[in-house]
Amino acid sequence: MKTALSLITLILLPFAPPALADDLAEPREVPSEDIRQELRKQGQAFYLENCAACHGESGNGKGPAAAAIKSGPKPRDFTVGKFLYGDKPEQIFHTISEGSPGTSMPSWKFMPAETRWALVFFVLSFHKKPSP
Ligand code: HEC
Repeated sequence: MKTALSLITLILLPFAPPALADDLAEPREVPSEDIRQELRKQGQAFYLENCAACHGESGNGKGPAAAAIKSGPKPRDFTVGKFLYGDKPEQIFHTISEGSPGTSMPSWKFMPAETRWALVFFVLSFHKKPSP
């Protein structure tokens, strides 16, 4: 059933309205290495505005709002570099887009794909040593 469904999606994709086609194509369009650094820089502002309350300014998962989360998992500590849903850029993109259902991690699908990619590379930069 799932295969049949994805086949239908594949066949219909070229005819889908642009928004839907973009949406389905997004996760496969991983930005190339040469623009990741630029995206990472842009990601910082979005992160501080939308994510730091839970994940912390330094990415350690101890933002001011984290203490208020009484049930379910705590915000991920990005400095550890371990991700439940995978640490590949396209997997993190998917997590940011969908959120983690049943937890306080919301979906950020309303943000433009470029913003979500910027967040992906900024989030990934927390567990890497700063470049010399
Ligand atoms: C209201 C609190 C809250 C906010 C705001 C929030 N998160 Fe989260 N986030 C969480 C929680 C809680 C988890 C752990 C979910 C789990 O364990 O399933 C999480 C997990 C994650 C993960 C890791 C999932 C994995 O695979 O381990 C990523 C990546 C992430 N958040 C990115 C973001 C980004 C980017 C933003 C801002 C756009 C953001 N979060 C904003 C609470 C939040």
